[in-house]
Amino acid sequence: MPGFRRSDDVNSALGVALARQVRVRAMRYEAEGVCRVELTPLAPDASLVPFEAGAHIDLHLPGGPVRSYSLLSGQGDVSRYVIGVHLHPASRGGSRHVHVAMRPGDVITIAGPRNHFKLAEDAGYSVFIAGGIGITPLLSMMRRLNELRRPWELHYAARTRMQAGFLDDVRELAAGGEGRVTIALDGEPGGTMLDIAQVVSQAPQRAHFYCCGPMGMLEAFEAATVSVPPVQVHTEYFVPRQKSDTTGGFEVRCARSAKSVQVRPGQTVLHALLDLGVQVPYACEEGICGTCEVPVLEGNPDHRDSVLTQQEKDAGKTMMVCCSGAKSDVLVLDI
Ligand code: FES
Repeated sequence: MPGFRRSDDVNSALGVALARQVRVRAMRYEAEGVCRVELTPLAPDASLVPFEAGAHIDLHLPGGPVRSYSLLSGQGDVSRYVIGVHLHPASRGGSRHVHVAMRPGDVITIAGPRNHFKLAEDAGYSVFIAGGIGITPLLSMMRRLNELRRPWELHYAARTRMQAGFLDDVRELAAGGEGRVTIALDGEPGGTMLDIAQVVSQAPQRAHFYCCGPMGMLEAFEAATVSVPPVQVHTEYFVPRQKSDTTGGFEVRCARSAKSVQVRPGQTVLHALLDLGVQVPYACEEGICGTCEVPVLEGNPDHRDSVLTQQEKDAGKTMMVCCSGAKSDVLVLDI
């Protein structure tokens, strides 16, 4: 999952406090505009923090940008993290830095892993739908299902074969377990569009569905799965579904630090907290990475993120403070 936001000095300082350094061990061309990056511990015999399939890490890049990328390697492999980085056309420092300036041997700072896109390991059948770089978190999930010897199918859409990264991984995974793969290349002569509604309608009734890709694909996926029980539907967004709430006009109380602040119009809860001197980790500031999730003790959040499920939003036990506001006059947060 690529994130697209800057950080400021406060975030950089905070991120460093939570983060660790790793070495860029290898970089490889994967597809047009996509490179594969392997990160290893600085010490030869050290291990990285374990993670679960679907997790991502944050890269703290020179000059301040923080970007989130899904881990595509196997969750049992703590000797390395492998990510895929798509060069965003408008990038000025994040993915562009990775593609243009980063080199094997560099030491970089990362934070995480975190996981808001979890695999239901006990599902009898799993259906994965990927668009472009959205394949990356699904690769670690398919690796895990192969370890568990559970069946899955993948529908992978890209414009052309040159733009479809990680095809070697996909073939290897299909050969190494009980997976079936369909690749839809709608920009190739005779190519076809992926019919997501048909994929969903033809899947076993209790299948779990996963989708990661561009907004149009995610919207088609949500429409196709509208009558599937929500617990069986899993999405990861690259771009925010909603605008951040900056209406302000409510109070935020911090239970642990006994501080409180009035959120002003034009301000997010995150920036009100940072102005107050309360440290909250954050990265994307768009409600897509989950870094800024905070427990809610009292009050009614106005959720604007693309991370929490509808059930989690209805429960109101946590909120993403970078983008969500309040429907109540007061929010009490467990920070
Ligand atoms: S900082 Fe990414 S969800 Fe809030």
